[in-house]
Amino acid sequence: MQKPRRIAIDGPAGSGKSTIGEELARQLGYLYIDTGAMYRALTWLALKNGVNITDAAAMEELARHAEIAISRPNIDDGRQYTVTVNGQDVTWDIRNAAVTNAVSVASSHKGVRAIIIGQQRAIAQRDGVVMVGRDIGSVVLPDAELKIFLTAGLEERARRRSAELVERFGPRNPALPSMETVLEDIRRRDYIDRNNLQQAGDAVVINTDHLSISQVLEVIHRYLESRT
Ligand code: DC
Repeated sequence: MQKPRRIAIDGPAGSGKSTIGEELARQLGYLYIDTGAMYRALTWLALKNGVNITDAAAMEELARHAEIAISRPNIDDGRQYTVTVNGQDVTWDIRNAAVTNAVSVASSHKGVRAIIIGQQRAIAQRDGVVMVGRDIGSVVLPDAELKIFLTAGLEERARRRSAELVERFGPRNPALPSMETVLEDIRRRDYIDRNNLQQAGDAVVINTDHLSISQVLEVIHRYLESRT
């Protein structure tokens, strides 16, 4: 049997998807696609153009005409990839608080998801892809050769998110939110995202609470080998 060509990694916010997905793609020489970035890019465009994110028809129209692209990083500034919308680099803008607060609602419309999922499937036609999200194994690529579902407890996910923020903004930055705020944020996002997070029945579930990044990767490589 051949090496799995499409690897789906799903899980809730802070479960380690993006860190694991990026590293796995690098090790395999595969394309890394963070599908959350596509929903974020569309949300950024809606906010910029004053489109009401709760208006399903308007959001669908926006999605139909938006040109969202994810490519390998073209600037060495710590980015995992470059995201453009209609040619504009929005890689960092899509991480801001306004987008983070709006993206769950903006990405919840059925019509919007149908369009973005179509684009994700087209991307996965290319050779070798690690696609990361909430519904990749269940909806986007139900025939992916390997499906991983990462989990971690709320507290551990909040701890990781806090560490990420410290890394990005520095330990003494007054803008850093408290642990309780981060925990509350994740709890709220879990709630809003609950309908989009779908575990595939045939996914390998890995609880990452007590595992390091390299230990999670080791487990995934074992599954990869067993399916090759
Ligand atoms: O992983 P993230 O925080 O960048 O995801 C941003 C939002 O997009 C989040 O609200 C969940 C949603 N999302 C989704 O509904 N389906 C996906 N495949 C990926 C993300």
